[in-house]
Amino acid sequence: MTEKSYKILVVDDEAGMRQLLESAFRDRGFSVSTASNGDAAIELIQTQSFDIVITDLRMPGRDGLGVLRAARQFSPDTSVIIVTAYGSIETAVEAMRLGAHDFIAKPFKLAEIELKVDKILKSKPEEEPSFSPSPVSRRIIGESSHTKQVLRMIEKIGPSKSSVLITGPSGTGKELVARAIHECSPRRTKPFIALNCAALAPGVLESELFGHERGAFTGASARRIGRFERAHMGTLFLDEVGEIDPAIQTKLLRVLQEGEFERVGGSEPIRVDVRVVAATNRDLKEAIAEGRFREDFFYRLNVFSIKLEPLRKRPDDIPALVEHFLKKFSSETGKRIVGVSDDVMSFFMRYPWPGNVRELENILERAAVLAEGDIITMQEIPPDMAFVQEPPEEEPGQPPETASLIERTDELESQMIYAALERFRWNKTKAAEHLGLKRTTLQYKIQKYGLE
Ligand SMILES: Nc1ncnc2c1ncn2[C@@H]1O[C@H](COP(=O)(O)OP(=O)(O)OP(=O)(O)O)[C@@H](O)[C@H]1O
Ligand SMILES: [Mg+2]
Repeated sequence: MTEKSYKILVVDDEAGMRQLLESAFRDRGFSVSTASNGDAAIELIQTQSFDIVITDLRMPGRDGLGVLRAARQFSPDTSVIIVTAYGSIETAVEAMRLGAHDFIAKPFKLAEIELKVDKILKSKPEEEPSFSPSPVSRRIIGESSHTKQVLRMIEKIGPSKSSVLITGPSGTGKELVARAIHECSPRRTKPFIALNCAALAPGVLESELFGHERGAFTGASARRIGRFERAHMGTLFLDEVGEIDPAIQTKLLRVLQEGEFERVGGSEPIRVDVRVVAATNRDLKEAIAEGRFREDFFYRLNVFSIKLEPLRKRPDDIPALVEHFLKKFSSETGKRIVGVSDDVMSFFMRYPWPGNVRELENILERAAVLAEGDIITMQEIPPDMAFVQEPPEEEPGQPPETASLIERTDELESQMIYAALERFRWNKTKAAEHLGLKRTTLQYKIQKYGLE
């Protein structure tokens, strides 16, 4: 055995079998839990993390396949060994198909099952894998300094356990960022549980979050595990957190501070290890001033904050997003769409994008379906959209110098690009590399400034 004490759960309705396996594995230094039926096992699986579950197949109530399904759902890293009675080989095959790691037929020798356990543990990584850029953060596309900064922030705060509050208008990518934070954390092999807090009435929300005991209210015919328990060791994403009722905010504050809560109708405190990531498109400071949001809860959530800008404030992301979505929709539609026409791109750069990235994604999805050639033209852009030609209104309170600041930075950018192009004899690939831009972005900017 290594230093680490592996956790095993033994599930069997026969007490003799439980004791046998429990003492055998405990003697070998494992930490062993037992359950005498499927339901009890599933509860343990939802609240603790086991390396291996050894479960009997045939049990009254929920059987071994039910335990296996719960393990696959709540704890995908747990390996399950199914113990079958002699002769029920078809069910064993079915169990393997459902994701069981191995099976063993009764009667078996202790050495046999120990061998199977050792084999599984040998194939598990000993340590948490080191951080590498996660797939989701690679799916966050953008060339703007804003997006690059968001990516850096995600990588920095990912490993921590502290709460994160993500703000930004609808469609700017808040959920995408929340998932990226989870995947940049050591929790990434554990559940990411999302809950839209605006969609539920306060009573329902409370029991969704914390679960309830049997008989807690009319209709509560069985105990139910809430999202906090399901997110144990992982991340809970509270979407639209600004809509939560103040009474529930108080309970959430306690979980954030003490890591514990009670199920609705229960009195026993339940401890969980959950990282909370929340998102809102509301101004929570305003909600605090109006007495709708607790200030202390806000500060607990806002240990780290990520503010996503509307798309119109980061037009440099548009060419890269267009390329990304066209690739995606080309493969979905089986077409080969390579880009958008110049007038579409220049229209996109001026359009105010009230629906942000989601709107751009939807427009391109529609256009990809309609496109006849390999380039998206203005023909495929909804005509009502193209009427909005005016640049967006600036937010109130912005100094009047803004326009000239943009003009001046444009001027500087155009000079730098021109200089780079000259230096690399108009080799755009090299110039783009030198400037730290994507080639498509450079191409767009050359057109924008009329450099060719
Ligand atoms: N930077 C980005 N790169 C790639 N795709 C993005 C990016 N930002 C957003 N998207 C895509 O845009 C869509 C909307 O993003 P998401 O659902 O994360 O937004 P949201 O801020 O949670 O919106 P809402 O407030 O309406 O819930 C998703 O399909 C998402 O994948
Ligand atoms: Mg969202």
